[in-house]
Amino acid sequence: MIYLDNAATTFPKPESVYKAIENCMRIYCANPGRSGHKMAYKSALVVEDSRDSIAKLFNIKNPMNVVYTFNATDSLNLAIKGLLKSGDHVITTSMEHNSVLRPIMELEKIGVEHTFVQADKEGKIKPSTIENAIKENTKLIVTTHASNVVGTIVDIESIGLIAKKHSIIYLVDASQSAGVCPIDVEKMNIDMLAMPGHKCLLGPQGTGVLYVNDKIKLKSQREGGTGSNSEEIVQPDLYPDKYESGTHNTPGIAGLGAGVEFILETGTEKILEHERQLTQYFIDELSKIENVIIYGPKDARERLAVIAINISNVDSGEITFKLDKNYDIATRSGIHCAPLAHKTLGTLNQGAVRFSFGYFNTMDDIKIAIDAIKDIAKEYK
Ligand code: ALA
Repeated sequence: MIYLDNAATTFPKPESVYKAIENCMRIYCANPGRSGHKMAYKSALVVEDSRDSIAKLFNIKNPMNVVYTFNATDSLNLAIKGLLKSGDHVITTSMEHNSVLRPIMELEKIGVEHTFVQADKEGKIKPSTIENAIKENTKLIVTTHASNVVGTIVDIESIGLIAKKHSIIYLVDASQSAGVCPIDVEKMNIDMLAMPGHKCLLGPQGTGVLYVNDKIKLKSQREGGTGSNSEEIVQPDLYPDKYESGTHNTPGIAGLGAGVEFILETGTEKILEHERQLTQYFIDELSKIENVIIYGPKDARERLAVIAINISNVDSGEITFKLDKNYDIATRSGIHCAPLAHKTLGTLNQGAVRFSFGYFNTMDDIKIAIDAIKDIAKEYK
């Protein structure tokens, strides 16, 4: 199988990730931060070491501001619903995933207003359109860092400056970028950063992270045991305990920590450069095929390794099915849980076939995929 579905979840993971999960499960997987024995201490140490590595990767000064969640959706729900109240206004974009759009639509029911800023046909957002949408009651700006449909990169640094200038909280959905793009929460004025552990951070599924800066007090979305202030029946106000009730996904966090260590050792610059080379070659070669439509920017520096295409007006599901069945190539078709992004691209009816590359893909994988697309495209001429 040639796995080109890394935007859904990365595969494979570094060997060290598999080892960390297995070691945890077999040797020391007790309940971290709860019990008073050696195994529990070791579990707690691994949870906190992983937190430190995550903080280092994103230049988060205090690791206690790194909150473990179960996926990016969980992080985004905590950030959005934990912050906004009736009468508040939130600005977001037409390139967002449903994990941003649906919590916002849910909050509409309690009187939270929203503005969806429209991207252009390549998925690009002009930061000035965000600034123009600011109102007196704007409390939050949420943008993706890169579209999960077309990979178009959003200029989060400029938007961060706008948010800072107007004293508005800025939340970045780094689902496709965390682990592949350099992100510095201080330099980029990011107040909250949501990410999955299982995509470019190379950890297992069931892990996610939300960075929340010190100035923000979110309402917890889940209350319960934290192992701290146990004499109290009300949720403690401590970071990160306030948001981490219940037993952690300790094996998952052990694997996530190993994934982040791999990234710190390899360097995001090297990872990004490798993925860019694959992306540019893929786009350049596909551009030569008459009935292939490529969405998003043609310059790999303006996008991540997430490339949506169509062949003539053929249903995208049919192409993904053929790629899987006849060529053993894994892709994702349809709407990718991002209906407004597809509306923006003009693909809401047809959907699109999404190829997404990871650090472990090789140029040979990409060449095989190009040949397969050439073959299939001939059938529909
Ligand atoms: N959000 C993931 C994707 O875009 C699952 O495929």
